[in-house]
Amino acid sequence: MSVRAGREFLAIPGPTTVPDEVLRAMHRPAVEIYSGPLLALTDGLMRDVARVFNTKGRAYIYAANGHGAWEAALTNVLSRGDRILVLESGRFALSWGEHARRMGVEVEVLKGGMRHAVRPAEVEARLKADRKSSSGGGFKAVLVAQIDTASGVVNDIPAIGQAIRAAGHDALLMVDAVASLGCMPFDMDDWGVDVAMSGSQKGLMAPPGLGFVAANERAREAHKRADLRTPYWDWTERDGEQHYQKYAGTPPEHLLYALRQALDLLFAEGLPNVFHRHRLLAEAVRRAVTVWAEGQVIGFNVIEPAERCDTVTPVLTNGYDPVALRSYCEEQCGVVLGHGIGELSGKAFRVAHMGHVNAPMILGTLSVVEMALAALRIPHGRGGTQAAIDWLGEQVPA
Ligand SMILES: Cc1ncc(COP(=O)(O)O)c(C=O)c1O
Repeated sequence: MSVRAGREFLAIPGPTTVPDEVLRAMHRPAVEIYSGPLLALTDGLMRDVARVFNTKGRAYIYAANGHGAWEAALTNVLSRGDRILVLESGRFALSWGEHARRMGVEVEVLKGGMRHAVRPAEVEARLKADRKSSSGGGFKAVLVAQIDTASGVVNDIPAIGQAIRAAGHDALLMVDAVASLGCMPFDMDDWGVDVAMSGSQKGLMAPPGLGFVAANERAREAHKRADLRTPYWDWTERDGEQHYQKYAGTPPEHLLYALRQALDLLFAEGLPNVFHRHRLLAEAVRRAVTVWAEGQVIGFNVIEPAERCDTVTPVLTNGYDPVALRSYCEEQCGVVLGHGIGELSGKAFRVAHMGHVNAPMILGTLSVVEMALAALRIPHGRGGTQAAIDWLGEQVPA
């Protein structure tokens, strides 16, 4: 006997729930690609993607996922043999760095870990040493994820930008905003970010398949010297006059219509409100986990509360099987949770709270997790969901 009939809820950290309006926006015939309404659609999207990154720099839209956007960012500013510094705080900056390594870039990892954010003071110290090194040093770029979706860490990007400047280093700051863009502030220009990248399928509420890169003037200067450039990703090619060049081929039209609708929804809500909604719902999840943790089994992966991000919460199950818990939630209740990845594989489940989410979705998910904890006899403090309800009731005025 299950209680899963009805609409399934996808509580994984991407792809996320695509709003019905966004799905409907794709239900139309394909259109001509050299003239007509698509040209204005492209202009508006380029402008508004840059707006979401908060930059006066230029945005590029690729028919690609986040891995593609990683590659786009790297190829456009780096050369074979360049050295870069990758800031570890989970899994994703490391994977981005691994892409760079396979492309012929020399990669050094500033060790961090799975349970805490990058320490800006360590970045500053490493970059100061790099400037003074006899080998000429010269990291060309620093790579970091704003939110690491595997660990649930949020990194302080403005502080990392400040650390680079305090070290007097001219490395480009390159930021992965796949799990954060459209969910929390991203002030590319104010924070001194040179290259930022993201994807369509998380906070931006569109289907998977679009990758975004934003670049400032410094990045475009580096681009002139980069020898890793290849035709598909190349910014110079995409800056060409022809509309066709902006996508290096046939535009992913239906995804562009979807993105337009998704951005319109975000702008109609107002980005500050969107960020606040994410903060409230994330804190509701954290309130629940805090209560469950009183049973001495369930726990947060990220140790410092201030370093827990507002889009996904990885929850440790300390000796109990997270797979059984996920299966129960999915098969008995129709809620699909994320599984632990990387070092957290087999040790955690992840509750996503990003994109098109509201109180009933999050409270429903928490209720189902609590149901699973009880059904599987996993020791936990009682009343986690109630704590989440109490928090939201206090924060959301009548
Ligand atoms: C922070 C982060 N960066 C990059 C990626 C890779 O994106 P994609 O799976 O779209 O290639 C992901 C995917 O989950 C991610 O969470």
